[in-house]
Amino acid sequence: FNVPIPVNEPVKSYVPGSKEREELQQVYNALREQQLDIPMYIGAEEVRTDNKVPFTPPHDHQHVVAHYHYGNASHVQQAIDAALAAREQWSQMPWESRAAIFLKAADLLAGPFRARMNAATMIGQSKNVYQAEIDAACEMIDFFRFNAKYMTDIYKMQPESLPGMWNRLEHRPLEGFVFALTPFNFTSIAANLPAAPAMMGNVVVWKPANTQIYSAQVVMELFKAAGLPAGVINLVYVDGPEAGEVIFRHRQFAGIHFTGSTGVFNHIWKSIADNINTYRNYPRIVGETGGKDFIVAHRSANAKEVATAITRGAFEYQGQKCSAASRAYIPNNIWDEVKAQVVEDLKSFKMGDPGDFSNFINAVIDEKSFDKLARYIEAAKKDDSVEIIAGGTHDKSKGYFIEPTIIVAQDPQYVTMCEELFGPVLTLHVYDADKFEETLQIVDETSPYGLTGAIFANDRYAVELATKKLSHAAGNFYINDKPTGAVVGQQPFGGSRSSGTNDKAGSMLNLLRWSSARTIKETF
Ligand code: NAD
Ligand code: ALA
Repeated sequence: FNVPIPVNEPVKSYVPGSKEREELQQVYNALREQQLDIPMYIGAEEVRTDNKVPFTPPHDHQHVVAHYHYGNASHVQQAIDAALAAREQWSQMPWESRAAIFLKAADLLAGPFRARMNAATMIGQSKNVYQAEIDAACEMIDFFRFNAKYMTDIYKMQPESLPGMWNRLEHRPLEGFVFALTPFNFTSIAANLPAAPAMMGNVVVWKPANTQIYSAQVVMELFKAAGLPAGVINLVYVDGPEAGEVIFRHRQFAGIHFTGSTGVFNHIWKSIADNINTYRNYPRIVGETGGKDFIVAHRSANAKEVATAITRGAFEYQGQKCSAASRAYIPNNIWDEVKAQVVEDLKSFKMGDPGDFSNFINAVIDEKSFDKLARYIEAAKKDDSVEIIAGGTHDKSKGYFIEPTIIVAQDPQYVTMCEELFGPVLTLHVYDADKFEETLQIVDETSPYGLTGAIFANDRYAVELATKKLSHAAGNFYINDKPTGAVVGQQPFGGSRSSGTNDKAGSMLNLLRWSSARTIKETF
């Protein structure tokens, strides 16, 4: 059996005057005027509680667009029970049927669900129309279609047999339930984390970030519309530590599919270790975590290309992509040209509400993130060893707006060159063009992370040297391209070091983590 050959979903352009732009604008306007009532989804039930929490968009924090029904530990327990009740049928369901459900979800998202998913992501997570489209529409569709293909590849992978015997590999779902703990910044990642284990026959408890509940509900409605049986994926809104208390003490906890910060993942790993004697199986621990992604230019690099990579790679979605460049190393021979171009390009970036489709920069996700970024910017203003060459303003009166900011640091170990800030702040170091190799050493050693990075050079020896020296500094390494925008099926995504377990989202490597294979030898 072969599933339909996957092709990456074409990105719609939403150019002014187009039908698709008009439709999305209408859906967006209608949605932002509603006050949605968002339940949890446990088994076949939509669960409502007395604890109704108002939700406001990051760019308009006085405007309530929804209330969600917040749960507690008892709802997590109910979600586990519902998942385990669904397990027997779901785990026995032929894989073609499971694949068909997610292929249908992809088709529904490519069609009738697209505008709603994009609008919810624009309002809920403050993404501009293009950033919503490449995430909530295209990347999510690609995850479902490509994972369906990788499933077939996995099930076809079989061992050799000699005459008189038949050896086979049975890909069983894990024994128990999987916990999907998901971040705010990509609707597609939040959807893939429960979907990938479910495709492999597992049942899932899904807890999204509170700041992503608004679009998570649309994902859940999509799964239901595609025919996902009740209880296979259960969506709960609970404080992370409270959910962890129930999940990580459960005998049938079979694995976690996590994306989020390194600190939270480390904490989770310790909780799992503390409970290791409780579990029936060693849980699968899959986590994609923080980053301090870099751009390094060599003296041979094209200055204009480097400047574009900086402005796009660092500031799209307000620098809140896990892959976003947040540090850059530029040789002094091209610095003047790079600087002039970057400053010029940033002038054209309009900032404001995503409802105005011409705004490129929107708000950062919440007040905590805003305050942290503002603190670092203010500290930089007071520090004589650094210079702010673009941006530097911030305003949270209506929404959490931070102007795209570039700090130039003399010291390549300056605090914002090393720590993950997760926002529209890039720190840049200008180095002596003769000290390329020493600079690569600094790039490798000054940050604990290893997610994405880019080298710009028109000298093949420089490319080779950087590829070798930065071998573990980035799980996704780009040569003459910005470090963001990995496409499912083309650049499997994930990092090493403190950036995660590097199980490459949207690839066979990831799906294999959700299978517990049994080898069967039969003799005749
Ligand atoms: P986060 O770590 O704050 O939250 C992730 C999830 O964990 C949320 O659902 C949150 O509610 C939950 N959580 C928080 N504390 C918890 C605890 N003590 N116990 C259990 N659960 C807890 O991350 P975020 O702010 O939503 O996302 C941003 C982070 O995610 C950044 O660090 C970014 O680099 C990272 N990220 C990484 C990748 C990747 O592929 N490597 C992709 C996207 C985002
Ligand atoms: N696909 C996203 C990126 O690479 C994670 O930016």
